[in-house]
Amino acid sequence: MKLWAGRFSKEIDKKTNDFNSSISFDSRMYHEDIEGSIAHAQMLGECGIISIGESMAIVKGLEGIVRDIDSGKLEIDPNAEDIHTFIEGELTMRLGQTGKRLHTARSRNDQVALDIRLYLKKEIVEIKKQVKELITVLCNKAEKYSNTVMPGYTHLQRAQPITFGHHLMAYSEMLLRDIDRLDCAYRHMDELPLGCGALATTTYPIDRSTTASLLGFSRVCKNSLDGVSDRDFCMELASALSIIMVHLSRFSEEIIMWCSWEFKFVELDDAFSTGSSIMPQKKNPDIAELVRGKSGRVFGDLMTLLTVMKGIALAYNKDMQEDKEAIFDAVDTVKMCLTAFTPMVDTMKVLPDNMRKAAAKGFINATDCADYLVKKGMPFRDAYKATGTLVALCIEKDTTLEELPLAEYKKVCDAFDKGVYSAISLENCVNGRKTIGGPASGNVKVQAKRVKKLLEEL
Ligand code: ARG
Repeated sequence: MKLWAGRFSKEIDKKTNDFNSSISFDSRMYHEDIEGSIAHAQMLGECGIISIGESMAIVKGLEGIVRDIDSGKLEIDPNAEDIHTFIEGELTMRLGQTGKRLHTARSRNDQVALDIRLYLKKEIVEIKKQVKELITVLCNKAEKYSNTVMPGYTHLQRAQPITFGHHLMAYSEMLLRDIDRLDCAYRHMDELPLGCGALATTTYPIDRSTTASLLGFSRVCKNSLDGVSDRDFCMELASALSIIMVHLSRFSEEIIMWCSWEFKFVELDDAFSTGSSIMPQKKNPDIAELVRGKSGRVFGDLMTLLTVMKGIALAYNKDMQEDKEAIFDAVDTVKMCLTAFTPMVDTMKVLPDNMRKAAAKGFINATDCADYLVKKGMPFRDAYKATGTLVALCIEKDTTLEELPLAEYKKVCDAFDKGVYSAISLENCVNGRKTIGGPASGNVKVQAKRVKKLLEEL
């Protein structure tokens, strides 16, 4: 029997019921639905809208239901319209008339708006924890490899020497911004929609701030139409999650390259890589590839939410039922990716010698060679040209700037003396870049320490 049976003369068509029902995906919110109903019933009792006895009976009944679902004693009916209907129906079955009083001064529209907020607030706390774990792993690794010279790239061409620690700490910055975005989405969803009713609140003397404080919301929604039809917080969360996936995906792409025989900068632990069914020599970075691939799902979820919301008139419309599968999928995917990604990074073996070898080729100290002349008084453009000539000469002679004899330097520009070799040593090139944000090993250590301290406050 449907909730709206009074107005209708027929039961709903079976296939239409399946189409209309959201129980298959909203049942995961049963804890939040019951939590919300308990607070609502307490408030109704305190405000004298229902009797204290009724309020207490409802709370007890709901506590019994949550216990029974948790223990598996009560199964959620897959044919119910949604989780809200199922729980109210079960309560009424257990309490009779009293159960029917729970929905006083409430609509499923403000109820569902509440449940999603409660559910996502908890998920944000979880995801934040996972992101923080990844940042900690990065900081520890960065400290360990603060002296490890590697080539920095632009256009995927060797550009200037950096340290591996510096490279890792770049991701830590991205992830710190991700945490900030998660916090922002959390702040926006930290508003109680209950009391907005179907769209225009209620004439009962409810006390919304009581319900808000019972449920841990810092404030109540100020406009009832907005309260029931706002899903900005889902879009915001999906967009914060999408950006996290962009970061994980870029990192994955680098790890995939670094694992290749061409780079060999890192080796993944056996526990976090896979073999081939036919090629015995293969060790594949499947986890990193999957994370890169799964970013597409999360971006898709964001697009779903934006598209669902963009054309619906105020206030609630059934289109909005589509919000849940999208945001749940985005949340599940990001959590799953982080669960696999963090230990993969933590256990990967870094191969500093190969990084150093790659850094020794490709003239990544050419800028420093030019800067050496500038420090001797030459204008940068002239120094740049002289160094270009030297690089061309090295390529012709199949040698490097480090190995080129001083006599050759002097032929190009008399200002060179043997000090140039120390100026272009990769260690000096890196450690000379100690301005704020630079790759010098001292910087990396300070930065990693600072971030770890910051994490304690986030
Ligand atoms: N199952 C619905 C949803 O997920 C909530 C119920 C509101 N439905 C309604 N027809 N007013 O959005």
